[in-house]
Amino acid sequence: MGLTTTKDLFEKAYNGGYAIGAFNVNNMEIIQGIVEAANETNSPVILQVSAGARKYANPIYLKKLVEAAVECNKVSGKDIPMVLHLDHGPDFETCKACIDGGFTSVMIDGSKYDFETNVELTKKVVDYAHERGVVVEAELGKLAGIEDDVNVADSDAMYTDPNEAYEFVKRTGCDSLAIAIGTSHGAYKFKGEAKLRFDILEEVSKKLPGLPIVLHGASSVPQEFVEMCNKYGGNIPGAKGVPEEMLKKAATMAVCKINIDSDIRLAMTANIRECFVNSPEVFDPRTYLGKAREAVKNMVKHKIINVLGSNDKA
Ligand code: G3H
Ligand code: 13P
Ligand code: ZN
Repeated sequence: MGLTTTKDLFEKAYNGGYAIGAFNVNNMEIIQGIVEAANETNSPVILQVSAGARKYANPIYLKKLVEAAVECNKVSGKDIPMVLHLDHGPDFETCKACIDGGFTSVMIDGSKYDFETNVELTKKVVDYAHERGVVVEAELGKLAGIEDDVNVADSDAMYTDPNEAYEFVKRTGCDSLAIAIGTSHGAYKFKGEAKLRFDILEEVSKKLPGLPIVLHGASSVPQEFVEMCNKYGGNIPGAKGVPEEMLKKAATMAVCKINIDSDIRLAMTANIRECFVNSPEVFDPRTYLGKAREAVKNMVKHKIINVLGSNDKA
């Protein structure tokens, strides 16, 4: 099957009450860990590339690594559906570069702009993408975190207004919508008790039946990795994510795409730290990067089977 858009995948996920994981990729080991997990669980998967990833790895390297994953799948006879998606596209030019370069899905993140500017920018990307068979995710509402450089613990996230969401989708024709219901990017999501506004999710999906909703900032920040990081010389006290039960609930609702990046970072860092402390004689990067890749694979398998429910849906 190779690279595909999210269209059919989201339709099946929406009707089937599960979600598809969108995992951020920055290097070969991350891609391999995620794709192996998707293969072993027979799950569709979204590999997403941020502007920061493009800057770090070079867009050509990332594209070729994903192509290598597709080819390896074909050779092994496990041809799971994979999506290559631009995460948080900051402007039209970046979206255009990805569409022209073979991405099957792009996100235009106009959430930093006022409503009218967001509509105008999103519509421009949608028109360009749809003419070329590419799907578009947009965002309305503001997640605290990378988008405004503040921690959600310090400021109130601006939740998505369901009426605005309706008008936004009708006017832009976007294929899926990221909404703000209380999640945030990074490893420090909640000061006290975790709380998500499922009422807003419900209201948006009532107004826009059939529209796939996207949940950003959906890492659960497994405490096992936080403890490992801190035990082996790290310093990330109080890191806290979205409880898996909440993600499971969202997946049964209109949420079809669940974004995970921080959990990959934590899985890798915890295992590399442990290796450095317990095996100080190791200086072959394949040893610790191999452990990191295995940890990514196991974490993604756990998400697919126990949180997203996308196993055996390839
Ligand atoms: O939503 C943000 C993702 O975690 C990507 O992060 O911009 O540091 O690559 P990044
Ligand atoms: P996390 O920081 O919770 O992993 O969120 C990732 C994300 O939303 C990527 O777009
Ligand atoms: Zn995000």
